[in-house]
Amino acid sequence: MFQSKIAGTGMYVPANVFTNQDMMKFMDTSDEWIQERTGIKERHFAHRTDETTTTMGVEAAKIAIERAGITPQDIDFIVFATLSPDYYFPGCGVLLQRAMQMKEIGALDVRNQCSGFVYALSVADQFIKTGMYKNILVVGAEKHSFGLDFSTRGRNVSVIFGDGAGAVVLQPTEDAGRGILSTHLHSDGNNAEILAMYNPGTHANHWSKETKLADFNDGEMGDMFMSHAMIDNAQNFPNMDGPSVFKVAVEKFPQVIMEALKANGLDTSDLRLLIPHQANLRISQFVQKKLGLRDDQVHNNIQRYGNTTAASVPIALCEAWEQGKIKEGDLVCLAAFGSGFTWASALLRW
Ligand code: UT7
Repeated sequence: MFQSKIAGTGMYVPANVFTNQDMMKFMDTSDEWIQERTGIKERHFAHRTDETTTTMGVEAAKIAIERAGITPQDIDFIVFATLSPDYYFPGCGVLLQRAMQMKEIGALDVRNQCSGFVYALSVADQFIKTGMYKNILVVGAEKHSFGLDFSTRGRNVSVIFGDGAGAVVLQPTEDAGRGILSTHLHSDGNNAEILAMYNPGTHANHWSKETKLADFNDGEMGDMFMSHAMIDNAQNFPNMDGPSVFKVAVEKFPQVIMEALKANGLDTSDLRLLIPHQANLRISQFVQKKLGLRDDQVHNNIQRYGNTTAASVPIALCEAWEQGKIKEGDLVCLAAFGSGFTWASALLRW
């Protein structure tokens, strides 16, 4: 059995910065409210139509691959996490494979929202451990700006999210005790609808056995997946009961971090850096306090990027590494919680 190590990290955010003041031009909100409740000052939005989740993932991947000292041709598997794919299908993994002119390797898409990257990393880790692959590209990328309700109606969700991408290259190491020490994955689908985007989807309530053939002929069939009524009722936007999500997040984050540390016989004092999914600065601060971590043991950047869901952990990891906060031998914990609910952690010895 091999261990997996992160051989290179990369990140990309669009050039366009969208401040809280910019947000106020579209809806009834304030810089004060957004900063006080979330910590966010600004986020990056991909406005150009030629900039997609995949193209941002490609930019982050190029950097990660170069830093790993390899070329796109050396990548032998792709795991791509996103909730905002370029197409409903196929997924972004194959689009990235095409864009980077990689070999006809496997490409897998992960749909686990905020914990998508940690799940993707765990999947890649298993393939490295068994010796099946040697250079796996793991990407988390999101283009939220195309799917948010920028009217006052959607303000509790729209002010939170930002666009961007992060990537890592995972390789095997025979250096015992280094690389990914463990990953822990969890889910509880009982609250699936609390933070969800219902449409387009196959759940349509008006579908029943009684649906008549005539309905298919007058266009009803197509309407079930995405109808004018759904758009008129804003059912094509994400829906979130923020306070309910907050309560579970502050419970599950510390649990899954401690689970990772305990599984390896370690404690919070051993931790060089906690990189939590950037959901809300108040959530990160709550987790820090609960675990008794110093300020220098937690990396937050939500102030500048907002919540980039699957991209938030790899962006924060890359940024922390670039800032010299992670050095060889350091213990780093990645942790995430979000829609599903799903939550996860990965403990690494750099
Ligand atoms: O990453 C995925 C996981 N997601 C999360 O972890 C999100 C967790 N939840 C949160 O971060 C917070 O719940 C939010 C930031 C989403 C909301 O903050 P909150 O303190 O829970 O506010 P709230 O939803 O309880 O709303 C309080 C008030 C309401 O007004 P009333 O009813 O008290 O008059 C809202 O209408 O704030 C109002 N409000 C806003 N006001 C100005 C909601 N959004 C806004 C806004 N600007 N953008």
